[in-house]
Amino acid sequence: MIIVLFGKPGAGKGTQAPLLAERLEVKTLATGDVLRAAVREGTPRGMEAKAYMDRGDLVPDEVILAIVQEALAKPEYANGAILDGVVRTVPQAEGLAKALREMGREVDAVLCFSIDNEEIVRRLASRTVCEKCQTPYSDLEPGAPCTQPGCGGRVVRRKDDEPEAIRRRLEVFEQQTAPVFDWYKRHGTRVIEIDAVGDVEAVTNRALHGLGR
Ligand code: AP5
Repeated sequence: MIIVLFGKPGAGKGTQAPLLAERLEVKTLATGDVLRAAVREGTPRGMEAKAYMDRGDLVPDEVILAIVQEALAKPEYANGAILDGVVRTVPQAEGLAKALREMGREVDAVLCFSIDNEEIVRRLASRTVCEKCQTPYSDLEPGAPCTQPGCGGRVVRRKDDEPEAIRRRLEVFEQQTAPVFDWYKRHGTRVIEIDAVGDVEAVTNRALHGLGR
């Protein structure tokens, strides 16, 4: 089962991904998390991605498709994957479809989390994330310890949650990512719209219900 989580920055994809993965017994793949880890480790891929990410721009499609192809070939994704942060451009949708076809697989559903920009700005202005496991929080100040069992990391503010970068990410979403929604519809993939406003558990239940679980 391959599920694409789709939605504006701050819609709650990173919050919902592990909850859905647990219920559906598959692994998550979050390109933003993979890229932030590469930046922290100072790998060539991370060094290439950093400037794009800090500005709120998209990292080039070929970098993203390489990450996704490498990951999906691993045995841990044999049962399926929740893709958080892919797909963000039409070339990524085409590249993912091609890579999956070569593996005899396909995207089973796109969960589209709907939310307005005002709520997004409110959420991202108060978001912190664990620098180690990347769990997002809305109730922890920078420097606080992560509350995930056994993690031991500290929470920080993301550089792309500064107001200028949030504005840019929302623009990029409208220009480059929104067309992906129609691409999937045109190609006959099941697209399920989910109201992303409400408590986290209610949103998870809406998503599971939409998937028929
Ligand atoms: P990425 O890390 O994927 O960021 P994003 O898509 O902008 O999404 P966010 O992580 O900001 O938001 P989210 O939807 O996961 O919301 P969250 O659950 O944290 O990508 C970062 C960058 O990497 C990109 O800008 C780009 O440069 C690059 N990149 C990554 N993938 C790429 C790709 N495929 N192509 C090109 N470039 C790529 O929730 C937000 C806040 O709200 C949190 O504080 C959370 O606690 C809170 N919250 C969540 N749910 C609720 C709720 N129901 N009610 C109230 N608060 C809630």
